[in-house]
Order: sequence, then structure tokens, then C-alpha cells
Amino acid sequence: MDRIRVEGGNRLKGSIPISGAKNAALPLMVASLLTDGPLVLDNVPDLADIRLLGHILAHLGVGVERAGRELTLTAGTVSDTTAPYDLVRKMRASFLVAGPLLARCGEATVSLPGGCAIGARPVDLHLKGFAALGADIELSEGYVKARAPGGLTGAQITFPFASVGATENVLMAACLARGTSVIENAALEPEVTDLAHCLIAMGAGIEGAGTGRLTITGKPSLGGARHAVVPDRIEAGTFAMAAAIAGGEVLLEGARSEHLSALTAVLRSCGIEVAERAGGMRVARSGAGYGAADIVTEPFPGFPTDLQAQFMALMCLAEGTSHIRETIFENRFMHAPELMRMGADITLRGQSAEVRGVRTLKGAPVMATDLRASVSLVLAGLAAEGESVISRVYHLDRGFERLEEKLSACGARIGRLKGEAQGG
Ligand code: UD1
Repeated sequence: MDRIRVEGGNRLKGSIPISGAKNAALPLMVASLLTDGPLVLDNVPDLADIRLLGHILAHLGVGVERAGRELTLTAGTVSDTTAPYDLVRKMRASFLVAGPLLARCGEATVSLPGGCAIGARPVDLHLKGFAALGADIELSEGYVKARAPGGLTGAQITFPFASVGATENVLMAACLARGTSVIENAALEPEVTDLAHCLIAMGAGIEGAGTGRLTITGKPSLGGARHAVVPDRIEAGTFAMAAAIAGGEVLLEGARSEHLSALTAVLRSCGIEVAERAGGMRVARSGAGYGAADIVTEPFPGFPTDLQAQFMALMCLAEGTSHIRETIFENRFMHAPELMRMGADITLRGQSAEVRGVRTLKGAPVMATDLRASVSLVLAGLAAEGESVISRVYHLDRGFERLEEKLSACGARIGRLKGEAQGG
């Protein structure tokens, strides 16, 4: 199993191209199930999760072809409406096939999902949405069976809280329902808005994209379209914090500052320079240290849970004490004990963490536990004295494209140790 080796101490200098967002590309790929026309997606990152979803869609009968950054998905016919456990258990986002299958074929049998081990992550809101649209839902032997033989019917759906996945799943289903649907308390994340824009390009009747109230006029069918995936705000935010912890200056090519306002406000309050540039963002820290800040993770536009682990790594070397509260997921501090192996001073209390800044971190062998946790260990390694070796990097490969290459191009000493059987 591959490991990543980082030798700390080098400042970063250079430009980093930001890839298309994994979390936008996944639902966009699934949207291809809604039409028999080709859906051509540009700027699709080449990542393990994208390849896995490609396999799941191919299993359902979708033609999937990649040419460089472009992915063409054609669901001329849907040959299977079952997404089996073996494929779905590896990634929670694969549950998104349920809505489009149900809407187009009148039935969907989808295994309950797996994914990152970050707390109980039910799909009850997805199912309530489908039921409101008239589907019969049955749970048996780890599978959700949803049926609507006569088609779905538009409805008013009010989510008790905003869920990214449930909004996407129900939005896609409602596009082919008879009549009008209204989704209240829809998630505001830019990836949801990107999906809505693509669906509109496919002919869907959606009003309110980017707001908490989506009004969908169902259409009998949708057509093919071409759409470019929005740049990855989580990748951009991660590299912004890499520059902050290592020091130096990076240009994040393609990063959209309007998608990162919560992070940039916090970084500025710590003394990190963040500026908008034509076609991207510049992040810099000169010789001096940086201050501490408190954060609470929240739905967009609040501080993203997917940047919490990286922020904790950054706060390990801040001048002062930081408080971090995780409100989106349970059990999302698994990186904390690993950071403590490198010398961090962290106390966990339930969903809160207190991070007392230390003067130095020391390189150590550490283990990645989930996607965002693993990259936080890379960030800590960039600033630590000596060498860190991070095992279980398959978590990283799910969500970060060419991470080592992008960082070494800016002067980081980072590389991959191939295939040695360590770290499980
Ligand atoms: C998406 C992102 C993930 C990010 C998360 C929050 C993708 C592929 N993944 O995940 O990287 O961390 O948004 O920004 O886009 N919940 C329920 N019932 C449901 C659905 C969700 O209780 O039916 C809970 C979850 O357990 C969680 C919270 O709602 O505590 C938010 O989850 P949600 O917004 O749905 O996240 P995902 O779509 O799974």
C-alpha cells in the first residue's frame, strides 16, 4: 500500500492549478441517468471516487468515456436499476443514483451507502423526499427499494435541515416528476448550485438555484448538455492552508474566492495574506508567525466541515489557543490523535477541540483515517521538523488529484513510497 513521505521546513512558492470539484463532479455524473442524450462534462478530476462512480454507472448501462479532462456519459438505455452493495459500500455519494433511477425508470434498488467513517450518516432525508414525490419505499436486507410505477408527482418538500446529498437526490428526481415541486431548506453549497445549472442546461425547469428554495417544474424528459465542473473549493482551501502553515506564497489558479469567504475571513484574522487575483487567489505568509482563531463548522456559506481537519493542523502551530467545534458530523476528529503524535497539544471534548499552539511539530509515522484527515497530516508534515510518513493514503487518492506533484512544484519535499505493505 502506498505511503506519502514529507520532509518539513520548506516554504512554498509558485502556482497551483485547482482541479474541478470532486463533490460537484459526482452528482453531475449521476445526472446523466436522467437523459438518453450524451452529457459531456469538462474539468472532471481524475480521482479514485470518480472512477468508482464511473464503474457504478457503467453497471447500470451508462456509456462512460474519458478523454483528458472531459467525461462523456450516455445513458441511451438504463439496463439495470439495482446498485449493489459491493459497489455502493465504498462511497456514500453513490446513493445519488437512487433519485434519477426512480424518476426515469420508476424503480431503484440501491444498497445503503458506506463511505468515510465519520459518524452515522443516514439517508432518511433522501427517502422522505422520494416518498413525498409519491414513491413507495421499502428497506430490506441493507437495500432501499423505491418504486413509483406510474411516475413521480411534484410535491412540497421541507427539509428539517440542509443536506447536500438529499437536496441533490430529490432535485434530480423532481426534474422528471409530473407537476411542480418546491424544496424548502435546500442546501446552498456551490456544488448543489453547479448541479442545478447543469440540469437547467439539460432542459430542467428549475428556479431559485443558489437559494434555499428550489422550485422545479417537472418535464417529461431531459436532453444532453455540455457543462464545466466548478473549481474545487476544498482543494483550494487546503492549499491556502498549506501556504499558511509552511509559509511562502502561492497562487491558486482558478480558485473562486466567493466560495471560500468563511475560510479567508478566518485566515486574515490570523494574519495570513489572502487576496483575489485575476483568475484565482493569492495566499501568502511572510517570515512572521500567525495567530489563533476559533471556528464552528456550518453549512455553506459557513466554515466547511471538509476544511476542519486542515484548519486544526494549521492551529497546531499558531501563536495562541484555538477552539474548533464540529457541528456537521460526529466522530470527525480522528486526525487529532495523529497530530498529537507529531507534538500537537490538543484536548478533545465531544464535538469540540481546544488546540494550544506549540512552537514546533516533529515528523512522525502517522496514519490517515479519512479523506480530509489525511491531508491535514500532509499539511502538518510540511511544517514539521524532519520526516513524516503517512500511511493509508488511498483515502487521499479518493479526493486530491496529483497532490504530491502540485506541492513539490512549489518547493515542498514530498513524494510517494510505492506499494510497501505497511499501515494496513
Ligand atoms: C456532502 C459532501 C461531504 C461534505 C458534506 C457536508 C459530497 C459527495 N460529499 O456529503 O464531503 O462533508 O456534504 O458539507 O458532496 N444527514 C441525515 N440524513 C440524511 C442526510 C444527511 O441525518 O438523509 C446528516 C448527515 O449525517 C450529516 C449532515 O446531515 O450529519 C450533513 O450531511 P449532508 O449535507 O447530506 O452531507 P453529504 O451529502 O453526505
